[in-house]
Amino acid sequence: MVLGGSGLVGSRVLDLWADDVELIAPTHAELDILDDRALTAFLTETQAPVVVNLAAWADVDGAEPERGNRDGRVYALNARYPARLASLCGELGKYLVHVSTDYVFDGTSLDRAYRESDPTGPLCWYAETKLEGEQGVLGSSAQACVARIEMPFSAQPHRKQDLARLCLARLGRGEPMVGVVDQRITPVFLDDAVRALRQIKEVRFTGTIHVAAAGWTTPYLFIRAIAARMGLSADLVTAETFADFAPKRPARRPQHSWLDVSCFEEHFGRDILRGPEAELDAWVEQVSAT
Ligand SMILES: NC(=O)c1ccc[n+]([C@@H]2O[C@H](COP(=O)([O-])OP(=O)(O)OC[C@H]3O[C@@H](n4cnc5c(N)ncnc54)[C@H](OP(=O)(O)O)[C@@H]3O)[C@@H](O)[C@H]2O)c1
Repeated sequence: MVLGGSGLVGSRVLDLWADDVELIAPTHAELDILDDRALTAFLTETQAPVVVNLAAWADVDGAEPERGNRDGRVYALNARYPARLASLCGELGKYLVHVSTDYVFDGTSLDRAYRESDPTGPLCWYAETKLEGEQGVLGSSAQACVARIEMPFSAQPHRKQDLARLCLARLGRGEPMVGVVDQRITPVFLDDAVRALRQIKEVRFTGTIHVAAAGWTTPYLFIRAIAARMGLSADLVTAETFADFAPKRPARRPQHSWLDVSCFEEHFGRDILRGPEAELDAWVEQVSAT
């Protein structure tokens, strides 16, 4: 059972798993996950042994106006609902994969990427609520995994524009782009993340696991790498420091929000999560084919 199947990540899960996984993916219109009676009934009635949760409030800046509001929609979707979902999965004996974010960290780790066991330190309301959601899932009786993903980018069109497709659109129109130079990030090619979630689901991994690029880049290098691969002008890309970039956004963001994927690699090998260069090669191949 996939919840949030119309979203950026969920829609790719449905695309890539549809051929060989029996999927139940209620739309928002069919199931409002915040309607407790409807959620309980839906889960009770379905035979699906596995639930993959991609439903969330994923707009980082849009969450800020609700900061501190535990009666708000952001808290309901990111904190209260995952705990309830996990509790139901526990009662019903269903395995749960819950997707979370690198933003649970404070981004001060310059020496090495964040490991699953590192202390968290959310800086914005989105991140605080996502962290509470993680805790609700892991504190439940369900057999469950929290998979933290970072900056998924896709070659497929979606109403939500990720960084890679934003670059393509803007640079393609000859518009300038600014890229942060002093920020370590591990953006994941969405198809790789979806394959990783598949492995996690197959073995019913429990606990927290990071799903990100197997190597870091910076937003500036990432954007220039896209320009170079797509034959677009890298001169349109200008450098900016994190100190200049960060105050312009409503939500505080972690500077070095890079994720260490060695736990994933130990369990599932090194073939699924790739470094940024190999990810972008695969992305370009798909973009060029569509
Ligand atoms: N995108 C990123 O850059 C990023 C980075 C790190 C982690 N993540 C995490 O990845 C997960 C998926 O993110 P995403 O970018 O795919 O999010 P998204 O595109 O905003 O999708 C959110 C999904 O939740 C559904 N939803 C929201 N409220 C609902 C409700 N009341 N009832 C039923 N469904 C509801 C939406 O359905 P409708 O649209 O039909 O309402 C949509 O399918 C989230 O947990 C997010 O925190 C995302």
